[in-house]
Amino acid sequence: MTTDRREMKRRSGGQQLLDFFFFPLRAVTLFHDDRWGLSCLASERFDYVAREVRGQCLDVGCGRHNRFLMDYRGGNGQGIDIFAYEGLAPENIVPDLTQLPFADATFDSVTFIANLNHCPEPDRDAELRDSWRVLKPGGNIIITMGHPVAEILVHKLVWAYDKIFRTNYDMDNERGMHEDEDYYLLDGEILDRLARAKFVKVRKKYFVTQWGLNHLFVGWKPEDEGAVVGRANAETR
Ligand SMILES: C[S@@+](CC[C@H](N)C(=O)[O-])C[C@H]1O[C@@H](n2cnc3c(N)ncnc32)[C@H](O)[C@@H]1O
Repeated sequence: MTTDRREMKRRSGGQQLLDFFFFPLRAVTLFHDDRWGLSCLASERFDYVAREVRGQCLDVGCGRHNRFLMDYRGGNGQGIDIFAYEGLAPENIVPDLTQLPFADATFDSVTFIANLNHCPEPDRDAELRDSWRVLKPGGNIIITMGHPVAEILVHKLVWAYDKIFRTNYDMDNERGMHEDEDYYLLDGEILDRLARAKFVKVRKKYFVTQWGLNHLFVGWKPEDEGAVVGRANAETR
């Protein structure tokens, strides 16, 4: 039986309080695993996303070791990335994320964790459209994004940290950022793109333990897609 390790990683109320008070320390030290009794920002981000995910999940731009699905969803789903990071198998590598190699209505959730800004600007609508296609009716999409100032600082800090301490934390530097990528996306762009891809009931949720400097959007593919198209047509008449 597959165990859902998400529950193992769920943080207690006391832990969340500690993480909230020590957020500045966690942010500047940039450690990549939980330590000193504190959560690292990455694992905490996965924890927030795991609360929104259901059933079979497609994690687009999964990064090294397919960490979200393996550690937070008990391997329940498929992680894919354009780059052959350490810990990824050939089936995890999909060079063109605008044409996902999955049948219509395969997944219950699709996640873009800290990466829609890394999708080249001309491809963003197409990736979201194809995410809609592979989602089951009633499924959801989750997109995380940091506050612009936090995103710029974290990108620069990780880059500098790797240079000074000869570590290799910076996944974007390892892959090499494309000129059409961005350090962050503003809410308006994400909301407009989600609407164009036909997602409905989109809600923004802040990461409280990161002082609201990180957040996620959850949008839904309606159970009855025909009803939404019908309503949209009626409204434009
Ligand atoms: C900052 S890393 C985040 C990785 C992982 N999701 C996490 O939270 O640790 C950005 C990821 O975006 C991926 N990426 C690159 N091009 C992408 C695209 N067109 N669409 C989605 N993700 C992409 C990168 O390969 C990288 O794995």
